[in-house]
Amino acid sequence: MTTIIRGGTVVNADRAFRADVLCDGDKIVAIGERLDAPANATVIDAGGQYVMPGGIDTHTHMQLPFMGTVTADDFFTGTAAGLAGGTTTIMDFVIPNPQQSLLEAYHTWRGWAAKSAGDYTFHVAVTWWSDKVHEEMGVLVRDHGVNSFKHFMAYKNAIMADDETLVKSFTRALELGAIPTVHAENGELVFQLQQDLLKKGITGPSAHPLSRPPEVEAEAANRAIAIANVLGTPVYIVHVSCAESLDAISRARAKGQRVYGEALAGHLVIDDSVYQSADLEFARGHVMSPPFRSKHHQAALWQGLRGGNLHTTATDHCTFCAEQKAAGQDDFTKIPNGCGGVEDRMSVVWDAGVNSGMLTPSEFVRVTSTNAAQIFNMYPRKGVVAVGADADLVVWDPEGTRTISASTQFARGGFNVFEGRTVRGIPSHTLHAGQVVFAKGELRAVEGAGRHVDRPAFTKTHA
Ligand code: URP
Ligand code: ZN
Ligand code: ZN
Ligand code: ZN
Repeated sequence: MTTIIRGGTVVNADRAFRADVLCDGDKIVAIGERLDAPANATVIDAGGQYVMPGGIDTHTHMQLPFMGTVTADDFFTGTAAGLAGGTTTIMDFVIPNPQQSLLEAYHTWRGWAAKSAGDYTFHVAVTWWSDKVHEEMGVLVRDHGVNSFKHFMAYKNAIMADDETLVKSFTRALELGAIPTVHAENGELVFQLQQDLLKKGITGPSAHPLSRPPEVEAEAANRAIAIANVLGTPVYIVHVSCAESLDAISRARAKGQRVYGEALAGHLVIDDSVYQSADLEFARGHVMSPPFRSKHHQAALWQGLRGGNLHTTATDHCTFCAEQKAAGQDDFTKIPNGCGGVEDRMSVVWDAGVNSGMLTPSEFVRVTSTNAAQIFNMYPRKGVVAVGADADLVVWDPEGTRTISASTQFARGGFNVFEGRTVRGIPSHTLHAGQVVFAKGELRAVEGAGRHVDRPAFTKTHA
């Protein structure tokens, strides 16, 4: 399969330039002006458009068993929706139950992911500690292409990692050349605040943000950063949602600590007024953790992205339909936490970021693809339009528009937190591994065409 993308402007994180891009098999094989192509090559006219590396969503949960149910999108529907939005690689999470073997869980998730239409790779969560966990982290890094471990500082009585687990796992990650990541919220405080609210009879979704104020997130972010500093590990903080957490990251980075931050498309553009809606189904649809915040926090997140203290954009795609969310209709703590967005992230960040002048097109590529590839050691296979890189590309029409709606989305769940938002800047074509998988609104995703992306350790392991 040979495809030539003609007449577009290639946008990489470091520069933009006019060039044709020739793909053969699953790789980019030539970039230059007026390239020759075989007569049977598929030709994509990219005149007036940008040619960018496919998006990498650093944070998704397809087919996740969570809070008594399983997310609506599986690895096929979720990755296919991503392709429709220009995202060609997802980073999902293996989440073992406490006491469960990490390897057993890893193989379970690999089995579920075999139906993916786009590429995928896994962070593995450390939800408990033992000698066996120590050993299995080594096997995952050495033999299974895992170089990042996730720690939930929230979800007490479920998957929360205590300080002992954080310290031991960060230490082990450093030894292995892997990067620890954290969901930063103080799970004890969340639990206490939830119980207080329920005792006062405040049981609806408006209680959700009250149980998870910015200080609860900032405490955990500061703690994770302090632990990483003492141990000398890098640390990556997922879904940074508030100014206080960003401040913790910025302070640490200013002192030379290697701390990375991820912003969610939803946190960048949606505010906490959604929890006040009289339509409780709508309010429950927005229950995710950390919650949506006020506009003050949104402005801070944009500054963090532009200023370089936040590095990646993701979605935390974790879809539940209204019936699933209704499990918490009498008790907000039982609403399955999670929202979608894998299909919309690129357009939402472009529209709110590039069209507003907040980000340049190259900065957009940096925060939607390149930084993720570099932080998680997939670069330059991913994250750049370059000869030898995977032919995962998005041809981006900066004038194309789309009104986001659950009624027209490919993703499941029947709900969209960006409902009604008209975005300018959409993919006209998405290529995954050299195949045109999305063309002018038509999705041609193929079940099982996605590949697992091995991510080598950062340093030589000695375990
Ligand atoms: O509410 C969320 N974010 N659900 C998914 C699990 C997590 O915390 O990332
Ligand atoms: Zn194995
Ligand atoms: Zn989380
Ligand atoms: Zn998540």
